[in-house]
Amino acid sequence: MSVTTLVFDAYGTLFDVAGAARLASGDPAGAALAGRWPRLADDWRRKQLEYTWQRAMTGCHVPFDRVTADALDWAMEAQGIADPALRDLLMSLYARLPCFAEVPEVLARLKATGYRLAILSNGTPAWLDGMVAASGLAGVFDAVLSVEAVRLYKPAWQVYDLVQKRLHVAPQRVLFVSANGWDIAGAGRFGFATAWVNRADAPVDRLPHRPVHVVKSLAELPRCLT
Ligand code: LAC
Repeated sequence: MSVTTLVFDAYGTLFDVAGAARLASGDPAGAALAGRWPRLADDWRRKQLEYTWQRAMTGCHVPFDRVTADALDWAMEAQGIADPALRDLLMSLYARLPCFAEVPEVLARLKATGYRLAILSNGTPAWLDGMVAASGLAGVFDAVLSVEAVRLYKPAWQVYDLVQKRLHVAPQRVLFVSANGWDIAGAGRFGFATAWVNRADAPVDRLPHRPVHVVKSLAELPRCLT
């Protein structure tokens, strides 16, 4: 069956999760991050994901902005940074993360080719809509789907199921695109074809349902669709 619909993960796939810490380090209020922002960004992301998995497994859902704030508090404490103004700056930058450079042009080309495009993300509707608008991507997506509709986090199958519920498309006609290996495994388990965006040349995750395609950036997606 040929693919009609491309569904994108948001964080790390379309939008740069290191962007908030990187941008804050260049702000006068972010002087404490000089030379330290990469570790802060890594810890922040790692804890954020751990907390989503913990909350989904234990049935203690809170929205992604709360999980993200909790993870930031851990990451700042781990580096001995106690600075409420910097915390506010990092959180406001996270709500408007920049997209990766190739994203606008690649999405416009795929849309012009006739594919339906959607986002399926852990993010809250407000954060996702805000990032999409700030990157000039409003109007590109047929749907922006948030886990808030099921109050669970990826890789729970109920999240991937939102695609067929909202877009009325069979899983076999979906190419799911994510930079997160565990998300690719969850989407593959659900029945989507998958493209793993391996920007960092990382080893493939030792999980069932390995990626069908591996690309270095979204610019290589067209070759997954032939
Ligand atoms: C998301 C995270 C998992 O956008 O990257 O859902």
